[in-house]
Amino acid sequence: MKKTALFLATAIVAVGCATADKSAPKNKINQEEVMARMSLEDKAHFVIGTGMAGFSGNDAVIGATRSLVPGAAGTTYPLDSLGIPAIVLADGPAGLRIDATREGDSATYYCTHFPIGTLLASTWNTQLVEAVGQAIGEEVKAYGADVLLAPALNIMRNPLCGRNFEYYSEDPVVAGKTAAAYITGVQKNDVGTSIKHFAANNQETNRMNNDARISQRALREIYLKGFEIAIKESEPWTVMTSYNYINGVYSSESKDLVQTILRDEWGYKGTVMTDWFGGKDGARQMWAGNDMLQPGKQEQFDSIVAGVKSGKLAEADLDRSVQRTLSLVEKSPRFQGYQYTNKPDLKAHAEVTRQSAAEGMVLMKNNGILPLESSKINVALYGNTSYDFIAGGTGSGNVNHAYVVSLLDGLKNGGYTVSDELKNAYATYADDCKKAIEAEIEAASKKDPKNAMLLRFMPRPLPAEKLFSVDELTKQAEASDVAVITLGRISGEFVDRKVSDFNLSPSERKLIEQVCEVYHKANKQVVVLLNIGGVIETASWKDLPDAILCAWQAGQEGGNSVVDVLSGRQSPSGKFTMTWPVNFTDVYSSKNFPIDQDPRIDMMNQGQKSTNVRNVDYTDYEEDVYVGYRYFDSFDVLVSYPFGFGLSYTTFDYADASCMTDDDAITVKVTVKNTGAHEGKEVVELYVSAPDNKTNNKPVKELKAYGKTKSLKPGESDTLTLRVKTADLASFDEAASAWVVAEGEYQLLVGASSQDIKATLTAKVKAQQTKVNDVMKPQTQLHLLKR
Ligand code: BGC
Repeated sequence: MKKTALFLATAIVAVGCATADKSAPKNKINQEEVMARMSLEDKAHFVIGTGMAGFSGNDAVIGATRSLVPGAAGTTYPLDSLGIPAIVLADGPAGLRIDATREGDSATYYCTHFPIGTLLASTWNTQLVEAVGQAIGEEVKAYGADVLLAPALNIMRNPLCGRNFEYYSEDPVVAGKTAAAYITGVQKNDVGTSIKHFAANNQETNRMNNDARISQRALREIYLKGFEIAIKESEPWTVMTSYNYINGVYSSESKDLVQTILRDEWGYKGTVMTDWFGGKDGARQMWAGNDMLQPGKQEQFDSIVAGVKSGKLAEADLDRSVQRTLSLVEKSPRFQGYQYTNKPDLKAHAEVTRQSAAEGMVLMKNNGILPLESSKINVALYGNTSYDFIAGGTGSGNVNHAYVVSLLDGLKNGGYTVSDELKNAYATYADDCKKAIEAEIEAASKKDPKNAMLLRFMPRPLPAEKLFSVDELTKQAEASDVAVITLGRISGEFVDRKVSDFNLSPSERKLIEQVCEVYHKANKQVVVLLNIGGVIETASWKDLPDAILCAWQAGQEGGNSVVDVLSGRQSPSGKFTMTWPVNFTDVYSSKNFPIDQDPRIDMMNQGQKSTNVRNVDYTDYEEDVYVGYRYFDSFDVLVSYPFGFGLSYTTFDYADASCMTDDDAITVKVTVKNTGAHEGKEVVELYVSAPDNKTNNKPVKELKAYGKTKSLKPGESDTLTLRVKTADLASFDEAASAWVVAEGEYQLLVGASSQDIKATLTAKVKAQQTKVNDVMKPQTQLHLLKR
């Protein structure tokens, strides 16, 4: 890349001026003047980033901008002579991702590892998500970053997507509302967010070249809906387009997506950027309305300059993106002269992550053993991850955190006694396994030096579970009051999970079977804890233990958060935001998903696109709108745990459900009473069943609203009010290219899960129709599932 403005004489045209409007930035950029002084090359530089060392860009520029906040994913391009600084863009969803240490600097720059996105969504508590977002945003600002590359909002189309841990749900309403709350929280700090990956980035395999072939209806109702909700409710500063193609066009090159839908239909006013090295043709990306190409490559620069010169790209289109990017810079803390401290309140944030993580854990089974109310209990702790708790996933969703509280430490902190003998046995075993895995990675990196960096970035295989003889277990069972077994999973960017990762490994199965058998014989009980980022198989073994708690990957305070729940200090109130199938193949998309494929990582996106490998080069979304519970419940397929499921230590009664309709909305009220002996909160889900849904090929029910009670003491009640706009009852009608609300009687299902409906109400609704643009059509015939 050419060195231009960075080294030119300084001539600042950005001025500080007082403004009456408190929310307007104090320092302003005189866009007209700045634009007038920019050459075509300046503009082309400005709309692409500075590159990435080892991949693209000019080392001097990269060096200068990356040293602003080392470890940040990228920056905008600085135009020093015009007084336009580079602003810093940094990941990610579970907390700020920057380097924790810096060369020649004894200070540390650790960030809090908050719970993964899936756990946050499982709280169904938007206020809590907003508070977590606010704490993350405080760290963004304190460490001198300007835009957080989060939240990640793709639909969990299939349990094996490697990045599901970053995502929220199989349902767009949960995903959209969670993202909106997160964005609101982060942006309260006057720093930006980047809602990503827009759109349909539902697999990691060949993600830079995969064509997601989706009906217009499924796109609108499922894959775009969450973005639409979040963008309208929270106005993220930026949107990040996805790597993949949708119906034959790269997302980042799709004017239909980035201009027609995002801006014209939804009214989005912010800046759009690509995912890192996403898309191919810089001029086309600009033309589409993708304002910033990150982190920027020479070909994109060349393509923009040549495009303007040849007339292929109107200079007005480039100018528009320059202006939007200038507006982003103008709002940034860096341009506003914010003096960052590098000293976020990590102690306070440790408390935020501890509490929020406990609220998103899901109690899956409990025969009464939980809570382990007396701390005098002696726990025998099994499973590798009990001792090496997994805080989150890998890749850009990782956070460089100072520590992780293991379950072992959490139990000790909670006053429990833990078997030392087991602890020592696991320590030796873990050491041996770590060495073996390191050696494997070393060998693989040597064999494939091109991918060495990626191999380090990718999830490491977890060791097999340590097994014990019956005698050893019997001895432990005699000496302890209860066994806790943790099963762990790790996944991350670049690669999808394998079917073997969904199923239990032979050693995990054996460990559960043996421990349960020996402990039950000794009249002792067994709790299984899941330290995972995505759904696993449970149907074949869930009868064995006495209790199961899904702790997810709960951030750096994980062990403490789990013990807050196990001990009963906090009653579990999380519920699943996705369905847990009996078998992997029960998921309809399992035949249209890359199963155990080579991930085909192509960082610079320059591979020859072959077009014929199903689910790798293209993926047909044949399940159409029947994603998750929309499929299982409409087609009566048995599940292991339904969408929306989660137990509590207490019980709840639903009463006095009522509804009121006016022209614009339906309002449902329901009173929830705590009828058990523990304090607790309850999530209430409102599904809608459209008239004649079977004949009209609609899901049997769809979530439209939800709420959570306050913490209820035994005997206490709370009345929740849930509101659904009539327009949100619409389905997408492809023939009319319109959102259509069918006239008739709608059933309103008030549920504790998608399969536990507590009250059914009805509401008469008048027809309405809202036309939208007829865009993003599939280019091929899809064989869509129908009811
Ligand atoms: C990921 C994005 C991330 C970016 C910058 C990409 O590989 O897909 O989610 O924000 O890198 O790190």
